[in-house]
Amino acid sequence: MATSKRDSKIEKYKLLVEQVTALIGDEENLIANLANTAAAIYDAFKHHWVGFYIVDDTNDTLVLGPFQGPVACTRIDKHRGVCGKAWRDSRTVVVDNVHEFPGHIACSSLSNSEIVIPLLTFSGDVYGVLDIDSREFGDFDDTDVEYLEIISEVLRK
Ligand code: SME
Repeated sequence: MATSKRDSKIEKYKLLVEQVTALIGDEENLIANLANTAAAIYDAFKHHWVGFYIVDDTNDTLVLGPFQGPVACTRIDKHRGVCGKAWRDSRTVVVDNVHEFPGHIACSSLSNSEIVIPLLTFSGDVYGVLDIDSREFGDFDDTDVEYLEIISEVLRK
């Protein structure tokens, strides 16, 4: 990526981290915090879809949480998709071309690349994931990983 484009992405992320931190403040309601975080990321980058899936331990699925963008799958099995992999491995997954990812769940045919960041509790368990889909191929790089993981730390609970 050209230096100026990377610099402007970093600047956007620095403001975003400040904004999300301020929006959350000392609010403890998870739905409210995830809703505002999804809206702030969506507003900053205009990605195709930005949202959260929350772990439902009763049946090993992720269930749709607050999001911005087109309607999406309500539940994702732990063993399926990019979200399932981020949950199982407890690490960020970047997919440059979702059509080549085995088991990718196509909620929208307009999505071409994706990043999924696990959300952790203070004891280290995954309680959900942040999922961002782009219309561009290869839209997510190390800068996205770095700053979205910072945002996931702000959402630690
Ligand atoms: N593509 C995801 C499913 C969720 S939608 O993109 C919103 C996946 O394969 O995990």
